[in-house]
Amino acid sequence: MGMDTSEWLRSFEATRAAADGWNPCETETLEALGRLRLDFLGRGGRLTESLKGLKGLSLDDRRKLGPRAQSLKASLAERIQRRKSELESSLDLSLEKDRVDVTLPALPPGRGRLHPLTLMALEMTDILRRMGFSVADGPLVEDDWHNFGALNIPEHHPARDMQDTFYLKDLPFLLRTHTSPVQIRAMERARPPLRVICPGGRVFRHDQVDATHSAVFHQVECLAVDRGITFADLKGTLDVFMKSLLGPSTKTRFRPSYFQFTEPSAEVDVSCLLCGGKGCPVCKLSGWLEMLGAGVVNPAVFKAVGLDPEEWSGFAFGLGVERLAIMKYRIPDIRLFYENDLRFLRQFDENIV
Ligand code: DAH
Repeated sequence: MGMDTSEWLRSFEATRAAADGWNPCETETLEALGRLRLDFLGRGGRLTESLKGLKGLSLDDRRKLGPRAQSLKASLAERIQRRKSELESSLDLSLEKDRVDVTLPALPPGRGRLHPLTLMALEMTDILRRMGFSVADGPLVEDDWHNFGALNIPEHHPARDMQDTFYLKDLPFLLRTHTSPVQIRAMERARPPLRVICPGGRVFRHDQVDATHSAVFHQVECLAVDRGITFADLKGTLDVFMKSLLGPSTKTRFRPSYFQFTEPSAEVDVSCLLCGGKGCPVCKLSGWLEMLGAGVVNPAVFKAVGLDPEEWSGFAFGLGVERLAIMKYRIPDIRLFYENDLRFLRQFDENIV
């Protein structure tokens, strides 16, 4: 193998000419410099090949030409190194290094969570919707008629007292004290048969705030009006509703009560969520938790909205969203719902829906 000396020399001189002809200042980027280094000094590079080619020459020629080739290699390597340092310290490069790559995918934003009260209300709405109820709502600023009068709450009733109700300067307006006025609005809006639910609206009461009271809280209201509706429909609906909401072994209990807008009226208890009815500190050993108010729509309410109580009958119930959530999750203080402490709110993320 091997080439003869003159052949080697010709190729070596060409390489040297090319190397000498290279003006380092013309190499503008580190990439170009890297390509150039490979071209001469890389594996298979022109100078590397010359050095390898030395092996095929006679000992004499090797002694004579070897150092020339080595010194070209050394000087070329040095020039490349010098240019490399220049390029690396240049302003352009530092700008390049610090450049923000706007095409990089951003950090994924944290997924928002629904508030536990929203989740609770959505879950209730969902169950009642599947039972044929549609969603209704009314204004937070109500008038006396919808909040009280049409619901058969007479003028002198303590619920109208300034202590409970936030009145606006412009009477007869007030902040609604319950979601029951939505019943009136639903019946004014559409003729029966009706099945509506007001899903977790805000209500306002002039209450001292403490662990179990808040001046603003939420209620779910439900109303069904049709021909021939009885108390049994109310019982059946609530039983299915509570079982879907709190588990299939949940029992309901109806206790006689009094609300102006229902006759008869009941307060409804559910078997204790913790002990299942055996009796524990949560249910104060009774086995039951007081859950909501309900009843058969009072004929006076139908009259107030121009419906004939002889033709129509209905049932209604209303419950506090906070109260339900407090019992379901055994939350010690109602204020936790409004403080927006993420450590509290995070716990309800996937728990519910
Ligand atoms: N509105 C009542 C309250 O806030 C709760 C209530 C009781 C609603 C009986 C009803 C009902 O629909 O039939 O205390």
